[in-house]
Amino acid sequence: MCGIVGYIGNKDASPILLAGLKRLEYRGYDSYGFCFINEGKASLFKRVGKIERTEKEFVDCNFKGNLAICHSRWATTGLVTEENAHPHSDCKGEIFVVHNGIIENYKELRTKLINEGHVFKSETDTEVLAHLIEKHFDGVLEDAVRKALKEVRGTYGLAVVSTKDPDKLVAARLSSPLIIGVGVDELLVASDPSAIIARTRQIIILDDYEIAVLRKDGFNIFKEEVENKKQIETIEWDIEQAEKGGYEHFMLKEIMEEGNVIEDAIRGRMLKEEGLVKLGGLDSVEKELRDIEKIILIGCGTAHYACKVGEYMLEEYADIPAETDIGSEFRYRKPVVDKNTAAIFVSQSGETADTLAALKEMKEKGILTLGVTNVVGSSQSRETNAGVYTRSGPEIAVASTKALVGQLTTLAMITVYLGRQREMALVMGKRIVEELIKLPQLAETILKTREDIKKIAEKYKDYRDFWYIGRKYNFPVALEGALKLKEISYIHAEGAAGGELKHGPLALVDENCPTIAICPTDSVYEKMISNIEEVKARKGKVIAIATEGNEEIGKIADDVIYIPKTLEMLTPIISVIPLHLFAYYIASALGRDIDKPKNLAKSVTVE
Ligand code: G6P
Repeated sequence: MCGIVGYIGNKDASPILLAGLKRLEYRGYDSYGFCFINEGKASLFKRVGKIERTEKEFVDCNFKGNLAICHSRWATTGLVTEENAHPHSDCKGEIFVVHNGIIENYKELRTKLINEGHVFKSETDTEVLAHLIEKHFDGVLEDAVRKALKEVRGTYGLAVVSTKDPDKLVAARLSSPLIIGVGVDELLVASDPSAIIARTRQIIILDDYEIAVLRKDGFNIFKEEVENKKQIETIEWDIEQAEKGGYEHFMLKEIMEEGNVIEDAIRGRMLKEEGLVKLGGLDSVEKELRDIEKIILIGCGTAHYACKVGEYMLEEYADIPAETDIGSEFRYRKPVVDKNTAAIFVSQSGETADTLAALKEMKEKGILTLGVTNVVGSSQSRETNAGVYTRSGPEIAVASTKALVGQLTTLAMITVYLGRQREMALVMGKRIVEELIKLPQLAETILKTREDIKKIAEKYKDYRDFWYIGRKYNFPVALEGALKLKEISYIHAEGAAGGELKHGPLALVDENCPTIAICPTDSVYEKMISNIEEVKARKGKVIAIATEGNEEIGKIADDVIYIPKTLEMLTPIISVIPLHLFAYYIASALGRDIDKPKNLAKSVTVE
């Protein structure tokens, strides 16, 4: 995720874009950049870090121009450096592009363009767009953009300007949001309304495959070279609501992105026919990974639960002995490792002190370290030998939700990668890849039922204790459900393996302590039903998370939330979604400070 803003009009673009871009920093904040076109010349400004660090420097430059674009970056391809910050330009410095999305075939395109003589200055996928537009440029910017986009595979929200066609701004979209703001004698383009709401409430939402050409005196929108007359909409949101995409909290916005997160994580990585997963970040250690005989997975909080699911996946499908620990315990243990052990560190921020300390320990022992990280360029991603980015975009709410979905998806991909290096059959590889491809859609169907989940949450909001139970892949999901409820609603909740109920937790079960049972139709379903019956026999209420079509469960459980069927190993990726929504709606009904729960921090950088 990145933020884009562009301006064309009669005013000085600099303060307008600066204010707009600051509003979009929630979409990405590792680096930023501007390009102004004035009197046929382009001026660029790029810096690493948040805008506030270098804002004065920017203002002091006193950039002039009524046509400009800018970008706030959340790195996906290429490290966090000034060279990789947008805007990116062609060889001659005449065409400038800001981009949000992923160009999947950028490596092939880059090689082809280099062979044709183009010179690249950054490691990003975006730069291929600038060179492709240069290649096709014949005096009319939008024509070159259209031709360039025919060659790319992936997603984009783009804004493009050029000194060679200097009175227009061209914008295009495919699966990454982009809107046009229609002001008085001015037009703006932005990733979302929060960036432009201070100037206009009149917007046009660009649709996939549309290209917009903005000039000082008007605009045209084309699809497949045919002009599209679009309706102007008026936004009623205030600025704060706009930043949250119209949702009341960042947490709800982030939960609602869980389907997209899966899609972004798998984008360009699925080799369906070969039943393989392509993970460029593991290429450098591909050979060493073949010799690995044991894997330790380490993370804290929610990331630790991702590790636990990963442990089950790796053992069952890649046939590699795996164990899991939390960072703060692992560093004080005396783990038995040898040269055939690898450690996978899982972290959204890549800055959690306990996880980094465990990483340091493992590095000192000389074992292979891998990262599953969201933040590109974070300490974890720099310190590990290799790794895979989860590409979940910035997570603002303190309690982690969508990042977990990205971590689980990534661990499933790593399982296929390692499994196929070993005994995993082609058919099994294909099966998992096919099911992974279907997952974003399945996640969306769950998200669409959020009003039903909200009703159930409101019914249970006044209970003070909850149990969450699950078995096998859904045992860690039970732990996550309980953690989420604790974190944001301050209700006491505990997670347990279904089979452990009888070894203690049952003593607390009565009509005042409901149980959430994650019981999809899988290899442990029958066992889960026995556990649900144990709860019912003690007058405990049960909310079941069950597979669509299972009507039986409705006869035992008090309430049922249905999820679609997928492979057992992938179930946690979607079964966790209703638990995130349930915790959110309980906290919301209780009026809690959901995005910033008391006593907690997003990234814990102390021991
Ligand atoms: C904090 C957050 C949790 C998060 C944990 C690990 O405790 O409040 O939501 O799961 O850190 O963070 P990481 O960035 O390493 O995934």
